[in-house]
Amino acid sequence: MADILQKVLQEYGNKDKCKIRDPTKVEAILQKLASDGPSKLQVITDFDFTLSRFHKDGKRCDSCHGILDHSPLMPDSFREKAKALYEKYYHIELDHKMTVEEKIPHMITWYKGSHNLLIEAQVTKQKIQEMVLTSRALLRDSAVNVLSYLNDHHVPVLIFSAGVGNILEEILHREKAFFPNVEVISNYMLFNEDGECTSFREPLIHMFNKNETALDNPDYFQDLKNRHNALVLGDSIGDLDMGSGIHNPGALLRIGFLNDKIDERMDSLYNNFDVVLVDDQTFDFVNVVSRMVC
Ligand code: C5P
Repeated sequence: MADILQKVLQEYGNKDKCKIRDPTKVEAILQKLASDGPSKLQVITDFDFTLSRFHKDGKRCDSCHGILDHSPLMPDSFREKAKALYEKYYHIELDHKMTVEEKIPHMITWYKGSHNLLIEAQVTKQKIQEMVLTSRALLRDSAVNVLSYLNDHHVPVLIFSAGVGNILEEILHREKAFFPNVEVISNYMLFNEDGECTSFREPLIHMFNKNETALDNPDYFQDLKNRHNALVLGDSIGDLDMGSGIHNPGALLRIGFLNDKIDERMDSLYNNFDVVLVDDQTFDFVNVVSRMVC
């Protein structure tokens, strides 16, 4: 009997968008999450197109990188080169016929190339703030409510992103969503005294090394060692390992947001995430689960 799951689906109200390969397993995870409660829970989420929307009003939204890549405040030459990199490597990122091992060297080349372009363009802190304010980087509907609710219940949230930390933080500030329970692990730009980007903090985080080896704060999971349960939220296979640093993992509910190339990528997400939300631009499912646990 899938009691809690039925309740969650009823409250979520969007059953058509929710694909679950093994309802019995998900029911068992939900039972444990509910019985252990908020003191055992942590949340680990990807940022771009997981916490943020993929589209709105029929138009694509921006990722952290996309904000700069599309901004009229950046020089034309930067935008052209960034676009060329995106067109070359985004297909590789999503290619369901390539293995992760085959993709990784390409992703590293993409990231290094993008970071170098930002350094060459001498992008400044101030420009970043301006670009974020006018960008199409938007959080999913109800995402701020969920972050606020988790904060009220003292549940730590780790935003683990292969985007750009400085930009992501600006978006959280803009949305008044940078609650004290939020910690960010991402690629951070380092600036000189004139506020220009001169390098990026190591280690490089790309979409396929989001695991405990990419943590610049190795104590993060140690500090949360009594929180064995987690919601792990992502939009890519590379997000599945974000909880690999959890001590003695208990109930982990992996929720995948399927945004792009839906038909080609459905099998891959369906076979790897516990729950797949198909083209759902809200955080409603996470909201219902959070309220059921806390
Ligand atoms: O996994 P995560 O969502 O954190 O990864 C960041 C995303 O940013 C990737 O999915 C990738 O498509 C996107 N990206 C980009 N431009 C870059 C590098 C990454 O749009 N230069």
